[in-house]
Amino acid sequence: MTNIILSGVNGRMGRAISEKANESSTCRIVAGYDINNFCETPYPVFTDISKCDVEADVIVDFSHPSAFGAVLEFAKKRELPLIVATTGLSPEQKEELFAAKSQIPVFYSANMSLGVNLLINLCKKTASVLGDKFDIEIVEKHHRTKLDAPSGTALSIADEISTALENTPEYVYDRHSVRRERGKNEIGIHSVRGGSIVGEHEVIFAGSDEIISLSHSATSREVFASGALAAAEFMKGKPAGLYSMNDLIGEMK
Ligand SMILES: NC(=O)c1ccc[n+]([C@@H]2O[C@H](COP(=O)([O-])OP(=O)(O)OC[C@H]3O[C@@H](n4cnc5c(N)ncnc54)[C@H](O)[C@@H]3O)[C@@H](O)[C@H]2O)c1
Repeated sequence: MTNIILSGVNGRMGRAISEKANESSTCRIVAGYDINNFCETPYPVFTDISKCDVEADVIVDFSHPSAFGAVLEFAKKRELPLIVATTGLSPEQKEELFAAKSQIPVFYSANMSLGVNLLINLCKKTASVLGDKFDIEIVEKHHRTKLDAPSGTALSIADEISTALENTPEYVYDRHSVRRERGKNEIGIHSVRGGSIVGEHEVIFAGSDEIISLSHSATSREVFASGALAAAEFMKGKPAGLYSMNDLIGEMK
């Protein structure tokens, strides 16, 4: 049994993970952390994570960048594996997270869906074949209440594609304020926000006479919840280090 402390427990993802864990025979939520504590739960929820004294195997974070410092501090103090899925972390926060790998096991993924991680691998492969001859644009769509834009996933896709290109591309988020032709060495990243869209990512490779488009749609939060629980089980008992979805997928093969 993997015992999980869930940060952001009362949010949309927190509730989806809690429901999924209820159906699981291999993992369970033993405590929650959230600044808003209004839900009835079968486990204690702390509004100050430093007050949490519940024994656990891992901590999973789907909250907000403002919770990051306290969650990281807690994981280090308790020497717990930390799984961070919160997006919109600043470059400094990411650096701090990755530096913690010398002290605790750290798992970071801007997208816990196995399908998206396959999409990322396919995009990398496509970019390595088509090289700098095709124009690459990423379009992501999410629900109207998503706070960060572009999505962490869109940025991860762009970062992975960049590693397959000869020249480091410039990310262009806004074509509205500059009147100029598209540069060769760009990745355009565009955000759509509306309704209850769970998460869609389309990567367009536009050539002179052909277009290749790779896309992924999440139709429910369950895909992220399943991925988060799989990551929690994967991280239980791991030695200090940095882990990703690729490590998890590698173990599943
Ligand atoms: N990696 C993935 O696969 C994936 C998938 C979906 C969402 N996300 C990310 O997970 C995060 C949460 O998403 P959501 O849709 O559940 O959001 P949400 O707004 O519904 O929930 C966030 C929860 O965190 C709590 N919170 C906010 N600030 C806090 C703080 N300082 N301390 C403690 N708790 C705090 C809120 O009260 C809320 O209950 C977002 O960053 C989102 O982008 C990641």
